[in-house]
Amino acid sequence: MVEIFLDTASVEEIKAILPWGIASGVTTNQKIFLTTSRGVDLKQRVMEILSLIDGPLSVELTKTSSSDDELVEEAKEYAALSPNIVIKVPMWGDGRGLRIVNRLSRIGIKTNATCLITTNQVLLACRAGATYASIFFNRVKDSGGDPVQVISESRRIIDMGGFKTKIIAGSIRKPEDVYQAALAGAHIVTITYRVLKEMPYHWKTEETIKEFDVAWQEYLKSLGKEGQ
Ligand code: E4P
Repeated sequence: MVEIFLDTASVEEIKAILPWGIASGVTTNQKIFLTTSRGVDLKQRVMEILSLIDGPLSVELTKTSSSDDELVEEAKEYAALSPNIVIKVPMWGDGRGLRIVNRLSRIGIKTNATCLITTNQVLLACRAGATYASIFFNRVKDSGGDPVQVISESRRIIDMGGFKTKIIAGSIRKPEDVYQAALAGAHIVTITYRVLKEMPYHWKTEETIKEFDVAWQEYLKSLGKEGQ
């Protein structure tokens, strides 16, 4: 099964999409908070989102230049808010992110290893005990890589190795990215409101709906019951 998460920190966007019945979680990062919730207290917004959706909510560590212990403390503060909290830990190039993921996984805090570009990074995140591994679809492309290949290789490694880590495809910029990530083997695709809103639409569907409606209205007109 492929799940869809909402890549937003906007209460309005979450409220607009939840009734569609398609979303089972939310992902955020510092930039998402700044674009959707600038000026709002981060913890307050986290609590608001938690009250809207009963599913995983990824919150990224912000004290990025702190020591390992301080980062673990920040993670514990968020994790204490709800069992649905998932701590997003960047894959820092010096291995610090892996240390943090490993420490958090050992104390039962769910993690989302984030900003992943390569299959090797996903393999390391799985070994360190990450609950989720976020592969950044379009940022892989920006770096010259093939996100479909990275996702499919990562999925094979996860399935062959019996890892519990789930792949989240993030950095989705257009509707086509969604099915390509899903077909490549992502367990979850996290999608912005802008892209999600485009997904139910196709001009041919609209044309077809209109054609059927016109036919029905003409039929009613012939019975003298126009507009019913
Ligand atoms: C999701 O987990 C990511 O933070 C997000 O999708 C990144 O998207 P971007 O590449 O548009 O910043």
